[in-house]
Amino acid sequence: MLFDGYQRRIRYLRVSLTDKCNLRCVYCMPQEGVEWLSHDEILRNEEFVHLINLFIEMGVEKVRFTGGEPLVRKGFLHIIQMIRAQHPHLEICVSTNGVLLADYLESLRDLRVEKLNISLDTLDRRRYERITGSDALANVRLSIEKAVAMGTFNIKLNAVIFEETLSELNELVAFAAENNVAIRFIERMPFLAEDKTQRFVSSEELLKELHRVGYLERDCRSDTNVAKMFLLTRPDGKKLRVGIIPSVTHKFCGRCDRLRLTCDGHLKTCLYATSEYDLKSLYRQDVGDAVLKKIIFNAVNEKPFEHKITCEQYSSRGCASILSIRTMSKIGG
Ligand code: GTP
Ligand code: 5AD
Ligand code: SF4
Repeated sequence: MLFDGYQRRIRYLRVSLTDKCNLRCVYCMPQEGVEWLSHDEILRNEEFVHLINLFIEMGVEKVRFTGGEPLVRKGFLHIIQMIRAQHPHLEICVSTNGVLLADYLESLRDLRVEKLNISLDTLDRRRYERITGSDALANVRLSIEKAVAMGTFNIKLNAVIFEETLSELNELVAFAAENNVAIRFIERMPFLAEDKTQRFVSSEELLKELHRVGYLERDCRSDTNVAKMFLLTRPDGKKLRVGIIPSVTHKFCGRCDRLRLTCDGHLKTCLYATSEYDLKSLYRQDVGDAVLKKIIFNAVNEKPFEHKITCEQYSSRGCASILSIRTMSKIGG
């Protein structure tokens, strides 16, 4: 088992398979575009598998593949296949924007991927296009509906909160209820020097509005490390799980159990960490697994108890950029 210096058990590895994405969400990628990492900087399939295996040998029990958009990474299924073949009991999860998901659902089911977290910020076609830069809402809806119909996945929708979300809450919640999936509302994290005209909307403000949409009961047993969960009963009697992820207004570091492996092979022990451990270079220098494991062990031991980010600006208009080392698309959320 893997413990950090504060005796927190580390069991969850988030692996960003690529910095590339087929969308350009305004809160994730700078609108002027990002410079992609070069082919050689990105881990090769075998390198991903080798490094992920080390973490599993050290005690990781859950691996979530993220991006950018993990499904645009060439050979992403091959990586999951190799991991699954060696670890039949590993919990494997994917966070995706859903645009390409429909075509991969059968393969993901066969590889026993359990949890799919799918981004869906709006159900309005034009608003979706404004937020993501792409007219792809229909594909995402189709993917969600197909995934639901297959019946084998644990599906959660992720909606980053915009002011406009408040006027659309009823529709978003109704869509989740119809499809019998959970929906979580995420506070927009200030990773970019964002358009200052975007007012930051806190999860507290969202909760006030949620009370209008149905009867809300807190359901602590369904909480995850980052999400506070509720049971919402709609006026028609339909119940669904709704969550908030208050990344900006609250810290949930105390129970943190996660590490991150970036697509260029760097270990991050905290989402907000500015220092990283370059496992790829060491691996390519052939230092051997014992040395790599020692580096991982020491890095985990030095994992900070909590992040030191304060976002005093959040109550005003928009958020200022808090971290410039990587855009969100290069960390994977
Ligand atoms: P499960 O618990 O397995 O459902 O996954 P998750 O909620 O960890 O994953 P997901 O990829 O759906 O992330 C949801 C949101 O939580 C994203 O906006 C992430 O950026 C945010 N998030 C994930 N990990 C952390 C973290 O360590 N700290 C903070 N503050 N936010 C996080
Ligand atoms: N703030 C909050 N959530 C974000 N995501 C990406 N960028 C941000 C941000 N700046 C979310 C995506 C996806 C998840 C993996 O991370 O919408 O649901
Ligand atoms: Fe792509 Fe996800 Fe970033 Fe949107 S939030 S641009 S879907 S990586």
